[in-house]
Amino acid sequence: MGTKANKEKNIIDNSVQEFQQLMMQYDCAMLEVKTKLEVLNKELSLVHSRNPFESIKCRIKSQESIIGKLERHGLDFSIENMEKELNDIAGIRVICSFPEDIYMLVDSLLQQDDIILIEQKDYIKNPKPNGYRSLHLILEIPIFLTNEKKHMRVEVQFRTIAMDFWASLEHKMKYKKHIENAESISEELKYCADLISQLDRRMEQIRNRIDSHTTYKSSGAIKSE
Ligand code: GTP
Ligand code: MG
Repeated sequence: MGTKANKEKNIIDNSVQEFQQLMMQYDCAMLEVKTKLEVLNKELSLVHSRNPFESIKCRIKSQESIIGKLERHGLDFSIENMEKELNDIAGIRVICSFPEDIYMLVDSLLQQDDIILIEQKDYIKNPKPNGYRSLHLILEIPIFLTNEKKHMRVEVQFRTIAMDFWASLEHKMKYKKHIENAESISEELKYCADLISQLDRRMEQIRNRIDSHTTYKSSGAIKSE
C-alpha cells in the first residue's frame, strides 16, 4: 500500500538508520584513537618503566545532548549539521599523572600520519579565567568501512588526575541552579585550581628527581642508587 502514511514511515525509518550508522562510525573512530593511545601507553611504559596515562574514558554524545547543542547553535537536528558543526560527538578523556606525560602523548599521537589535527586548545598553558586546565584536541581520523574510507572527528581531552578532580567538582557547580554564595565558591575554586597546578609541577619535579637516581640493570630490573 503506497499510502501517504507508509511513505512517511519509510522516510523516518531511513533517517533512523542513517543516524544509527553515523553513531556507529563515531564509535569506530573513537575506538581507533583509543587503540592508538593504548599502543603508545604500552610502548612508552616499557621504555620509561611508567604509564604515561592512568586511565582513559570514552563516551558518545547522547541524542538528547546532540539535539540540545544544535539548538543552542540555532541549527536543526540533521546528519549534515551533526557532521559539519559538532566536533565532540565522539569524546575521549585521557587522565595522566603528570603534565609532562600529556605533552609526550600528544606529540607522539600528532606525529602519526593518519591523524589530522583540526584544533588544539591548551588550557594548561593558558587556563580559562575560572581556573579550568586541560589540553583539548579535535582530531580527524579515517575509518575503513566495507565500501568506503571516511574521516571522522574525535575530541580528546588530556588532564592530570588533579585537574580532573577539580573539573568534576567545578562541573557539579556549573550545572546546579540557584547555588548560595556562588561567587565565593568560584573564587575558592580558582584558588584551588592554582594550588593544583603548583602541586602537579612539584610532584613532577619529585618524580624526575626519583627517576634521575634510578639506574636500569640490563636484566630490566630497577635498582635505586
Ligand atoms: P563546548 O560547547 O562545551 O564543547 O565548548 P567549546 O566548543 O568552546 O570547547 P572547549 O574546548 O572550550 O570545551 C570542551 C569541553 O571541555 C566541554 O564540553 C567540557 O567537557 C570541558 N570544559 C571546558 N571548559 C570547562 C570548564 O570551565 N569546566 C569544566 N568542568 N569543564 C570544561
Ligand atoms: Mg563539548
